[in-house]
Amino acid sequence: MINSELLELEWQNFAPSCERNKVPLLEVLSELSLAEQRVLELGSLSGQHACFMAPKLAVKEWQTSDLAYNLPPLTANIERHGRTLNQAMFPKPLALEVGESSHWPTAHYDVIFTANTLHIMSWQSVQQLFKHLPQVCKPGTRFMVYGPFKCGGDYTSESNAEFEIWLKERNSQSGIRDFEAVDELASNIGFTLKQNIDMPANNQLLVWEFN
Ligand SMILES: C[S@@+](CC[C@H](N)C(=O)[O-])C[C@H]1O[C@@H](n2cnc3c(N)ncnc32)[C@H](O)[C@@H]1O
Repeated sequence: MINSELLELEWQNFAPSCERNKVPLLEVLSELSLAEQRVLELGSLSGQHACFMAPKLAVKEWQTSDLAYNLPPLTANIERHGRTLNQAMFPKPLALEVGESSHWPTAHYDVIFTANTLHIMSWQSVQQLFKHLPQVCKPGTRFMVYGPFKCGGDYTSESNAEFEIWLKERNSQSGIRDFEAVDELASNIGFTLKQNIDMPANNQLLVWEFN
């Protein structure tokens, strides 16, 4: 049995894309000082990023979350690949639909992290995410978003333009977001863009800080 088949047996909702981008993401996040920080992740899906990166980044806590229907596989993965190693680092996953104010935790986090979500959820949900984000932030909280973006109204690559067509065939509400429109949502609620890092496969890691 090859390695990828073994991984698919060990993980529920296994995401091959997570396997491809977890190392480049870790390399960049390792430069951003997350040690001893409390992290809230939105749209964790399988929890692969959390289980791989949290121990290597030596975070204090990595709180995963996703839509309620994704909670059973996410919870099973976090139990198996996270909590068996370190219960305090991996609290039980939360059901969190970004548009539901009551789903957001009452705690304040040092870092809010999300990967490959803004182009999946509707633009209305993206707006709701930014509306509710301050609930979990304190001065200095960083919001880190990984994924593809358009810049100046243009795709950053031909492959991203093709990806958008594929996304919209699955769900017309999905779509690659304009960096400038997302940055405007962030600055409207008191975030300042600190970094815009080019990542492999025409993705970006955007880092804002809450004032
Ligand atoms: C493409 S997956 C990305 C999963 C993982 N973060 C990764 O990088 O592989 C998109 C995730 O966003 C979640 N999602 C979509 N709409 C959402 C919403 N309105 N609120 C919270 N999560 C949402 C989905 O359930 C899914 O887990």
